[in-house]
Amino acid sequence: MKEQKFEFNYTVYDSVDELPEEEKNLLKEAREVTEHAYAPYSRFQVGAVAKLSNGELIKSSNQENASFPVGLCAERVLLATVSSLYPKVPIQSIAVSYKSMEQKSDHPISPCGICRQALQEYEGRINQPVELILGGMEGPVYIIDSATRLLPLAFTSEELR
Ligand code: THU
Repeated sequence: MKEQKFEFNYTVYDSVDELPEEEKNLLKEAREVTEHAYAPYSRFQVGAVAKLSNGELIKSSNQENASFPVGLCAERVLLATVSSLYPKVPIQSIAVSYKSMEQKSDHPISPCGICRQALQEYEGRINQPVELILGGMEGPVYIIDSATRLLPLAFTSEELR
C-alpha cells in the first residue's frame, strides 16, 4: 500500500497589467466577448478566446437555453468552433473571463468539470498542452500551463483503444 499525491504549480498575477503582452491581450479579448454571451437565466456571462498556432484568435461565449441542461459553457463552444473551423491547427492558449450581473467579477473562475474533460481530450488530440489564462473583469489572474492539470486521474481515450 502507498499513498500518492497530485499537485501542480500555477502562476498568480495581481492584475492584468502584470501579464506578458500576449496573455494580456487575450484576457482583454475574453473580457470583451462576455458581451456576446446568451445568459438570461444565470446572468453570468462567460467569454473565452483561443489563440491558435497560426496566430488566429477565435472567440466564444456561453449559450444558455430555457431547457437548462441544453446550455453550453463558453469553453466547449470554443473547442467545438476551433475543431470545426481549424481541425488541423492546434490551440496554444485559452483565456476565460466572465461578467456576473449579480456580483463582482473580481477573481478568476476555472472551467467546470465537463469542460475540464473536454479540454483534456482536446490536448490529447493535438498532443500538446493548452495554456489557460483565467481572470475576471478585474483582480488577480491565474496562468496554468496545461488544462489537463485541472483533471487528475482523468478518464481518457486510452481506455477505449
Ligand atoms: N459557465 C461557463 O461558460 N464557463 C465556466 O467556466 C463556468 C460556467 C457558464 C455556464 C452557465 O451558462 C453559466 O456560466 C452559469 O453557470
